[in-house]
Amino acid sequence: CGIVGILGKAPVTDRLVESLKRLEYRGYDSAGIAVLSDGKLERRRAPGKLKELELVLAAEPLDGMAGIGHTRWATHGQPTKANAHPHMTHRVALVHNGIIENFRTLKDDMIAAGMVFESETDTEVVASLMTHYLDEGATPLEAFTKTLGKLEGAFALCVLVNGEENLMFGARRGSPLVIGYGEGENYVGSDATALASLSNRLIYLEEGDYATLSRETVQVFDEDGTPVSRPTTISQVAATMVDKGNYRHFMQKEIFEQPTVVAQALGRYLDPNAGTVCLPETPFDLANIPRITLIACGTSYYAAEVARYWIEQLARIPVDVDIASEFRYREPVYTEGGLAIFISQSGETADTLAALRHAKAAGQHIAALVNMPGSTMAREADVVLPIHAGPEIGVASTKAFTCQLAVLASLAVKLASAKGEINSNEEAGYVKELNHIPALMAEVLHHDEALQGIARSISTARDILFVGRGIHYPIAMEGALKLKEISYIHAEGYAAGELKHGPIALIDEHVPVIGIAPEDSLFDKTLSNLQEIMARQGKVVMFSDSETKQEGMFAQLKMPSAGFLSSAILYAIPVQLLAYYAAVEKGTDVDQPRNLAKSVTVE
Ligand code: G6P
Repeated sequence: CGIVGILGKAPVTDRLVESLKRLEYRGYDSAGIAVLSDGKLERRRAPGKLKELELVLAAEPLDGMAGIGHTRWATHGQPTKANAHPHMTHRVALVHNGIIENFRTLKDDMIAAGMVFESETDTEVVASLMTHYLDEGATPLEAFTKTLGKLEGAFALCVLVNGEENLMFGARRGSPLVIGYGEGENYVGSDATALASLSNRLIYLEEGDYATLSRETVQVFDEDGTPVSRPTTISQVAATMVDKGNYRHFMQKEIFEQPTVVAQALGRYLDPNAGTVCLPETPFDLANIPRITLIACGTSYYAAEVARYWIEQLARIPVDVDIASEFRYREPVYTEGGLAIFISQSGETADTLAALRHAKAAGQHIAALVNMPGSTMAREADVVLPIHAGPEIGVASTKAFTCQLAVLASLAVKLASAKGEINSNEEAGYVKELNHIPALMAEVLHHDEALQGIARSISTARDILFVGRGIHYPIAMEGALKLKEISYIHAEGYAAGELKHGPIALIDEHVPVIGIAPEDSLFDKTLSNLQEIMARQGKVVMFSDSETKQEGMFAQLKMPSAGFLSSAILYAIPVQLLAYYAAVEKGTDVDQPRNLAKSVTVE
């Protein structure tokens, strides 16, 4: 979910909506704003995308100089108007990001005491609790801090109090919150992006902090209630909104941007003249890392799976890869001096952040591979490896994925050379291969039309399988994820050799199978697996650099030949385009698919 709050010297409604537009990536199930109008709280909410709220506001405008706004990604309760934020009583209005874990107990106690609730959300409990303390005669600050004392879970809050025109509260526990300074105005946001058009002078609340704001002052307290001063930072997030250019969707634009942004990312990590990889300074010795743990969610997790092959084969360092939400709960055994690398486009994903803190508390070296340099993960890591993909708006990740891969490949080469596993000639060879990737990516994008045709013919399928071996197995899984996310077609990615141990039972003439099969050392084996599928009437589409026309295949896409570091990056493109065109064919909302959010800040 996304949060914004403005204590302004001019009307705030339009500015709240503008900030919510920037925050829609954090969820778009419903949205709402509340303002103080002549000292009285008023709100408007609407289920669905932000444009629904804009229609409500056009019909019933809101006028006020202090306001809060929210875009929601539903956790407790369906995305209805009643469950949309802000939640409000006759005393307070508030917006919330995160989960109040003890809300059931608090709610039951309050219901027993005669309080009435209108929503199923955990958030409404916070509003009711604070109202209860205000009704008992507490000052607004007392009521707020008493309320915070009762809450368990991870959350960020922003609160307005009825009749208090020059007062706003913010609190951070588990979910980030930022305060922005203006001229005679002050702001609250869930991240720097929320405040990009309002202010670039920010302070990040630290864990457990809360803040009271007026138009003139900002006071921050730590969790014990002691006034503290937090450093002011200058945000680098650009105020201009990214547009689609001539593309139909952001996702399409971002797919086609890949040669440019991958070149940009590589440009920051490679010195082509010296033939070397250059990394930011690390507070640990790269030559002496006994074990690496790669942790991420979603698409970033598949980048980690690819990187495992590179790091193990080139640098000969053992690598563990795990899904962030599973990692810390399996009580991992850490190796002393180990390096844990957290991969996250947003740098805010709650699962990944929790895993990062777990590894940090255990004394591991921490690296964050992020697209957002000001993000929480970047601030908490020992070393940051930015991926330089530029803002990614489409919820289904594309260019961030290939930029993550480009940086991870560079890292693998650096680790190998630091450890002496490759000599300087070999390093220069890999640098040359990496540098050639953008040109090959541009070549692959020329298959746009052919992929559109293939997508059209498979878009009516109920189930689609993606298969690959070795480093292309994670690409098969990413292809399946991409297709599920935006076209809602059921898809699974399998190791090609594993199909015969179960999933082959699914194969009949209705099931398309996408084979990722470059002509490498595993090609013959993958080809045999594809034959096994065809023998059972499966409709095989093969992506390969092989020139040989395979009899009985439904379609073949001729890819350029590529090396160990470039191949996985290149094969990411046709699976992205296939998913994109299948979604377009099905008429789904490609950039904001149902039930998803770009950045999920709850566990
Ligand atoms: C969400 C998005 C996915 C993304 C995942 C990890 O679930 O819908 O597309 O891959 O988060 O995001 P991150 O920002 O950590 O890379």
